[in-house]
Amino acid sequence: MIVSGSASQALAAALARELEEPLATVDYDRFPDGELLAAVPDAADADRAVIVASTVSSDAHIELLQLQDAVREAGVEETVTVLPYMGYGRQDEAFETGHPISARAVARAISTGTDRVLTVNPHEDAVCEFFEPPAVVIDAAGRLAEPLPDDLVEPVFLSPDAGAVGLAETVRDAYGTGDTDYFEKRRLSGTEVEITPSDVDVAGRDVVVTDDIIATGSTMSEAVAVLQARAVGRVFVTCVHPLLASNAVTKLSQAGVESIYGTDTIERESSIVSVAPAIAAKLS
Ligand code: R5P
Repeated sequence: MIVSGSASQALAAALARELEEPLATVDYDRFPDGELLAAVPDAADADRAVIVASTVSSDAHIELLQLQDAVREAGVEETVTVLPYMGYGRQDEAFETGHPISARAVARAISTGTDRVLTVNPHEDAVCEFFEPPAVVIDAAGRLAEPLPDDLVEPVFLSPDAGAVGLAETVRDAYGTGDTDYFEKRRLSGTEVEITPSDVDVAGRDVVVTDDIIATGSTMSEAVAVLQARAVGRVFVTCVHPLLASNAVTKLSQAGVESIYGTDTIERESSIVSVAPAIAAKLS
């Protein structure tokens, strides 16, 4: 059976359809002190439970641990944990003395309740090493080419920083033609970045900017502002994980972004590309 975390209901339903497996009922309750109870009443009916849960908040992490425990307690033979979006994945090093490696901490906790882990385009693939059971990356970036129009003019597939250029290359390869390039980024604070453009000529050309995550929108809005100042053609803004926290949509609109699209690893209005087929391919 497919068991959905509360932040991944549409994706879990799509995966259940792809795999033709039943979608489990999940019941929720809250105790008077605010503690969560997530239960899977029919878990005993399944041999395999595939839990699909983007850990977009601290509550979502607790919910996932409870779902894992519930299905194992009911006696399922195999538990698979799918993290469409792995929260805390970006803190994959102790960047300052005294800091935690948060990605490792959550991976250790998740490891205790599962036989294997699948995660979609984590910020760094190396986070898979933090899990004890086998953990693999699903690369869904190629699907971001699907909504692009067929008539892109001399397209440039660009990433706003060096770390995401592989994603831009994957989208270009899936689209079939175009150049790739990347800007340099320096993060000044959690909400401020400085973008140094490359010397790629974008005048009159359509540009597809791709990142793994759009969180506060700072990176993408700065990158798009640089492009707008260079007589660019159309600009398409896309990402795997449209976290779009806080005032990200406003910030991007102010930078001249007309539309943003991403995948359904995080359920937002802009989540128009489904990663369900890519996950299903790893599970069947
Ligand atoms: C970091 O390097 C990631 O690839 C993204 O660029 C970053 O998470 C985007 O964050 P924000 O939207 O807050 O600038």
